[in-house]
This record gives sequence, structure tokens and C-alpha cells, in this order.
Amino acid sequence: MSSDVPHVIEGARRDVGPDPYSILVVDDEEGVVESLAFALEDDYRVVTSTDPHAALRLLESEEFALVIVDNIMPEMSGVEFLKRAVEVRPEAVRMMLTGQANLEEVVRAINDGRIYRYISKPWEPAELRLDVKRALEAYGLASENTQLASALAIANEKLRAENLYLRREVLGQYTFENIIGQSPAMQRVFDVMEKVAETDATLLITGETGTGKDLVARAVHYTGSRRDKRFVAQNCGALPDTLLESELFGHKRGAFTGAHADKKGLFEIADGGTIFLDEIGETEPGMQVRLLRVLQDGEIRPLGSSDMRRVDVRILAATNADLKKAVEEGRFREDLYYRLRVVELEMPPLRKRIEDIPALAHHFLDQACSQMGRKIEGISNAAMDRLVAHRWSGNVRELENELQRAVALAGDEVRIHPEMLSEEVRGASPPRAPAAGATALALPEEEDLNRAVDQMKRAMIHAALEEAGSKTKAAERLGIPRQSLQKMMKRLEMDG
Ligand SMILES: Nc1ncnc2c1ncn2[C@@H]1O[C@H](COP(=O)(O)OP(=O)(O)OP(=O)(O)O)[C@@H](O)[C@H]1O
Ligand SMILES: [Mg+2]
Repeated sequence: MSSDVPHVIEGARRDVGPDPYSILVVDDEEGVVESLAFALEDDYRVVTSTDPHAALRLLESEEFALVIVDNIMPEMSGVEFLKRAVEVRPEAVRMMLTGQANLEEVVRAINDGRIYRYISKPWEPAELRLDVKRALEAYGLASENTQLASALAIANEKLRAENLYLRREVLGQYTFENIIGQSPAMQRVFDVMEKVAETDATLLITGETGTGKDLVARAVHYTGSRRDKRFVAQNCGALPDTLLESELFGHKRGAFTGAHADKKGLFEIADGGTIFLDEIGETEPGMQVRLLRVLQDGEIRPLGSSDMRRVDVRILAATNADLKKAVEEGRFREDLYYRLRVVELEMPPLRKRIEDIPALAHHFLDQACSQMGRKIEGISNAAMDRLVAHRWSGNVRELENELQRAVALAGDEVRIHPEMLSEEVRGASPPRAPAAGATALALPEEEDLNRAVDQMKRAMIHAALEEAGSKTKAAERLGIPRQSLQKMMKRLEMDG
């Protein structure tokens, strides 16, 4: 055995289970590594090295459950070695060999959390085996924990998708009819959807959060020619890279720790149907390459497998990030971007189609009433004014939540009034409110004259109050008596 080449104890792997734990033993004295190996090789795969530098390189390239190192070596102290080992493979359990003389230093290392336990020289083989067994149990538990955590993340994500699926199924929200929008901006969306639904074109749906990207993706699938095949959705931002890869492409048994059996990926599950890659902007560079391959060649390769598999899957992708900017900044591959946006559909934010708000609000009101078994006839004009005036940075989802909340809090009310709305929405001023002191007056988008005037009044009063600080001064500024201001505010249902 040459002194600096790591040496694998032959036969150790053969006699034990299919995947014994690997142990790395590092000591400058050949006699010591050999006797340690001798004590452990029946139960584990033991790799030895007399050169700490070579051992560190080995640690980088291979998985070890346990590292045993001598404290005193001419080239590097054991403590120093373990410090570096933590950086390379933090999950491996660390043990140190030591003579009685160095106990103090060892205790310090233990306190630093760098080692699991020390083995004092000379050691009892039986005791050593027991120590190693305990240490590896700790390792097993720790890696089981990580596996459980990732399994849980996957399960949660699945459950979320499933819940959404069931909810939508029940509500029958899969068709165009359930997507509300009379505004020209939404009519353009429907036009594109209709054109692409029957094709297999890859579609990139962009837009702010809550604008309906998910809804549109499902509607495209369920009205298209693949509607009888599966629609599967994966949020690419929800999982770490390797797990995402295994979710999408599947894996072979043993591809990574915890891969106990072969698993089919979503691309295979969706064969013949559609896959919806949500939050595509969150993917890492490696994943982007793999996705590009599917888009180009229609082939996937499960993790740990050497064969490519052909799949026939339509790809829909969505993002609320600015992908073009991500491409410019080098965070997203340009070639993938162009492959994805064969057709691009930009979902308009709700504030750019406020004419859709009343219909959406009534839709969500009805939905909330039937879910909660309530009877509410409608929305008061004043409340509708506030709904139309709010900025809705969370878009349709925020509006949906607002109505859910209002219905839940409605009590015996038969109409939604402003005071039943959340504080933010209640305090909304019209989107086109002229800034105080502004000379040009922008026309409000509201077409009903009385409501437009009310919106304008509300905005001006609001601005005057902010500027002046008191009602008396605000009234002065607005050129009306204080009492009129007060009456007006009451009628306009403004707080204060
Ligand atoms: N035009 C619409 N008509 C009816 N309901 C809508 C419309 N747009 C969105 N919704 C509803 O609003 C909620 C949010 O929509 P969705 O989940 O599709 O948004 P998203 O763009 O995917 O959001 P995110 O970027 O946060 O994932 C859903 O409950 C959806 O049913
Ligand atoms: Mg979404």
C-alpha cells in the first residue's frame, strides 16, 4: 500500500448489506489505519488514507457517513482536518483519535461542535465498534430527517396542487366561461387562448401575481385537443433543484440517498397531455438546460438513468418575474426563453382593467355566499366605488380574498357596505386622483358622472386633509364651509 494513495479495503462491501455506510479513516501511521480498518471492515465500507490532503479531496468526491482522523499528524492536525471536512461534507459524523495528553484540545474541538466523540488510544475494538455504531445511528437519523423534510415538501406541494385541482373541479372552473373579463385587455387574452388551445404550441403566460395565469393554463388544456389526457402542474420555485429534477424527470432506484425505488416523473405522467411549469423564472441554470433539452428533442432522462425517454407533452409555463430582464442579467437562458415564448400571453393587471372589477366582485360574492351558506344581495354603490378605486397589487386573488372576507364578516347585512371592507380597500382613493396642487385635471375612468364626481370629491378631500392636517384648514383650502365638508364626508362615507 503506497503511503498517500487512498486505499479501499477490498471485500468490505461484499459481505454486508447492499449499501453499507462508508467510513474514511485518516492517520499518518499505516499501522493505525490498518487496525482501525480491521476492526470495522466487516460491517462497513472502510476507505483509508495516510495523507490528509488526499483524504480531503476524496471527501469532496465521495459520500462518507463517518470520518475518523488522528489528532496528531505531521502535515495537518486532526482538528484542522475536521474543520475543513465540515466545510466539504457537513453531514458526515466526525470522530478523532487522541492520546490522553491532548485531551484539553479535544474537548475544545468537541465544544466547537466539530466532532461527535473522540477515541482514546489505545482503543478496545468492541468499544470502538459500539461508538461507531452509535455515531452512524446519529448520522442515519440526521439524513432521515433531511429526507423526511424533503418528502414533506413534496407531499405539501402535491397536496396544494391536489386541493386546487379538487376545488376547481367542484367549481367547474375549467372553461373560458369561468374566466371573467369584458375589458378589451381580457378580450385579447381570450383571443390568444382560443387560437392556441387547439394547437400544441408552447405558451408562456406572464403577469403579476394573482392575475389568473393558473386559471388560463388550465382553461387552455381543458378546452384543447389534449383535454382527455392529464394536466399536471409543478411549481418550479417550490423545490430544491435535485428534488425538482426528480419530480419532473423521475429517478432510478439508488440515484440518490432516499431513492428507494424507481419513480416516474411528471413529464412521463403527463405523456399525451400537458405539463404546466409554474414560476419557471425560479429555475436554476442546470434545470434550464434540462428543460431546453425536452423542448428541443422531446426527450427526458430520469435521474440516475442512462437512457433517454421520448415523451409527447405540451408545455405551458408561467412566471410573474420579468424573464426578459432575467435573460439580460444572465439569470435565465436566452435559448430557453425563446423556446418557451413561442406564444406569449401577458395577463393584464387588474388596475389596468378596472371595468372588470364589478363583474368579478359579483362573481366572487356569489361564490363566497354559496361556500359559506350566506345570502347577500349585492354590493352598495359606495362599497363598489372603493373596490374600483383600490390598486389591487395582489390582483384578482386579492379581490377574491376581499369578498370572501366581507362575506365572512357580513353578519345579518344583506349588502356589502364600505365598512365591511378591509381598511386598505376602504381607504382607497380613485386611481386617477389629481395630486394636490396639480394643475392639469386627469379625467377619471369612471363613466357614470355622479360616481366619477364622488370619486373626484373623495380624492380632493383626502388630499386636502393630508396637506392641511385639520378639517377646518382643509375646508378653507377647498373653499367650502367646514360644515359642508363634514356633511360631504359623511355622504361619501369617508372616515373621520
Ligand atoms: N378573470 C378571472 N375570472 C375569475 N376568476 C379569476 C380570474 N382571474 C383570476 N381568478 C381567480 O383568482 C385567483 C388567482 O388566480 P391564479 O391562481 O390563476 O393567479 P396566478 O396568476 O397564477 O397567480 P400567482 O402568480 O400568484 O401564481 C384564483 O382563485 C382564480 O380562480
Ligand atoms: Mg399561479
